[in-house]
Amino acid sequence: MADLQHILDDIAHDMAGATERGRIADYIPDLAAVDPRHFGIAVVDADGRTFLAGDATTRFSVQSITKVFSLTMALGTTGDALWQRVGREPSGTAFNSIVQLETEQGIPRNPFINAGAIVIADVLLARHEPRETIAEFVRFIRQLTGDDSIVIDRHVAAGEQATGYRNVALANYMRAFGNIRHPVEKVLGTYFHQCALAMDCRQLAMAGRYLMMGGTDPETGRSVVTSQRARRILALMLTCGHYDASGDFAFRVGLPGKSGVGGGILAIAPGSASIAVWSPGLDAKGNSLLGRRALERLVQHTGWSVFEPMACVMPDNRP
Ligand code: DON
Repeated sequence: MADLQHILDDIAHDMAGATERGRIADYIPDLAAVDPRHFGIAVVDADGRTFLAGDATTRFSVQSITKVFSLTMALGTTGDALWQRVGREPSGTAFNSIVQLETEQGIPRNPFINAGAIVIADVLLARHEPRETIAEFVRFIRQLTGDDSIVIDRHVAAGEQATGYRNVALANYMRAFGNIRHPVEKVLGTYFHQCALAMDCRQLAMAGRYLMMGGTDPETGRSVVTSQRARRILALMLTCGHYDASGDFAFRVGLPGKSGVGGGILAIAPGSASIAVWSPGLDAKGNSLLGRRALERLVQHTGWSVFEPMACVMPDNRP
């Protein structure tokens, strides 16, 4: 494999010159103002080395990528009982769709569509008021990254709170089925603030390290989740992390990934790398257009794939 830094530099160079860049998400007021020319990529490998290119240290709105971390927290507090309230199937519908909730009695298909993440926010509220819940969430992200500078962009949260009518509809609809247990305003306040987390690619790749390392934080040696739970979170990222484009992402990239409408994608090569990429322009399904293209390029060069023959080694042959 060519030198990873060179690969990233080449990708960043080509993406900087790309003319087709997708469309910025403008339904969240602050996101509409982001410069579409940004592109950043960061890779943290299993040895702790960090490789950066482009705008890898420019912060952006993490949005739905935070759903990976809120799911991790909710599994920690409620365990597998969580799956009585949220499914584990790809939805095949848009991230903000309401259609399946009627026939499926207010149980969202998975924790990564908006409806599922709103239920997760409700689960997290079982222990605290929204303010403490959000503080606990930020603390968790700071622990994962070892970076205390990470904060929520309150302006982004306020903008979504003022305009997020679809999410209001989703939350009320699920409340009618009894699958939201706290006042809708509190649940959505928590959800919108979680989504408004601001991070750069480097920080995001650092936050994903426990998923690369079978649930263990490589810095502290502390178990964030069990290895089985890490595998299951990755399975959900692969099957549901890109909404109705999850199959296409698995086909093209072959790694578990989670996208956000801020234009970020977190992708994990288990045992090898935690990768974050950012380009604000989105494709028709709401996923970063150049982010996905960059990941396709990266895996072509590195061979990283969960479908790679050596990805499943017989237990006797494990190091
Ligand atoms: O609820 C929303 O619509 C946003 N806060 C998050 C959506 C999102 O990031 C979907 N990702 N592609």
